[in-house]
Amino acid sequence: MRKTNVRTIWEKAHNSEPIVAITAYDYFTAKYVDEAGVDIVLIGDSLEMVVYGKETTHTATMEKMIYHTEAVASAVKNAMVIGDMPFMSYHGSIQKAVENAGRFIRAGAQAVKLEGGTKMSDTVRAITDAGIPVMGHIGMLPQWVHRIGGYITTGKDEKSARILVDDGKALENAGAFAVVLEKVSSDATKLITAQLDIPTIGIGSGIYCDGQILVVNDILGLFDKFAPPFAKKYTDLKTEIIGAVKQYTDDVRNKKFPEK
Ligand code: KIV
Repeated sequence: MRKTNVRTIWEKAHNSEPIVAITAYDYFTAKYVDEAGVDIVLIGDSLEMVVYGKETTHTATMEKMIYHTEAVASAVKNAMVIGDMPFMSYHGSIQKAVENAGRFIRAGAQAVKLEGGTKMSDTVRAITDAGIPVMGHIGMLPQWVHRIGGYITTGKDEKSARILVDDGKALENAGAFAVVLEKVSSDATKLITAQLDIPTIGIGSGIYCDGQILVVNDILGLFDKFAPPFAKKYTDLKTEIIGAVKQYTDDVRNKKFPEK
């Protein structure tokens, strides 16, 4: 059993210790982010964009998510592993949602994440009633991008901030153990965090959260297509990779590698 679970996440939030979450999609990246000491590793459906180069997350399937979850889960020893339910895997019927959530647990995740607030509360309740912890996700919802009309900041006025608070409350009442706030205005984030007992994990939502999550490829500089402005780049692996491979190319062409 891993060291981190819903209970230790709650304890951290209760003690006002920031929760650190990050995505990972393959064995070795997962191993290294775990060794770096993060609290949560999410196999995000963002993998469609940052690993497979797609424009949206819609092409993520259960098969793909389970495949990547198995790789990540077998690498992570300490952090809590959470599987992201892909587009259309928790809509249609609640029974199907519970079955699909169960597949993530069988693949080695300890919890699932799904997008949506009040509208998803019955689904969240049914999954948690099956013994599977659920992390909610409100604000800018990538799976809803066509309906929303873009990757926009949410909760900018009083009415939409109130709707987000209600969404967060509905998820909490349905049994969610934490909630991601994506691209929520700072004022609305402050309000939601103050009103919820469960921890809020922000992405592009400012400082008033109990924790933060970022996409690993963004912070490593491995993704230059649609990197969001809020994602801090801690290193530039794209440049490192191109440099190293250019050197290898030169060495082979100039007969410097392999050496005798
Ligand atoms: O898919 C993902 O990576 C996510 C996080 C960025 C919250 O949903």
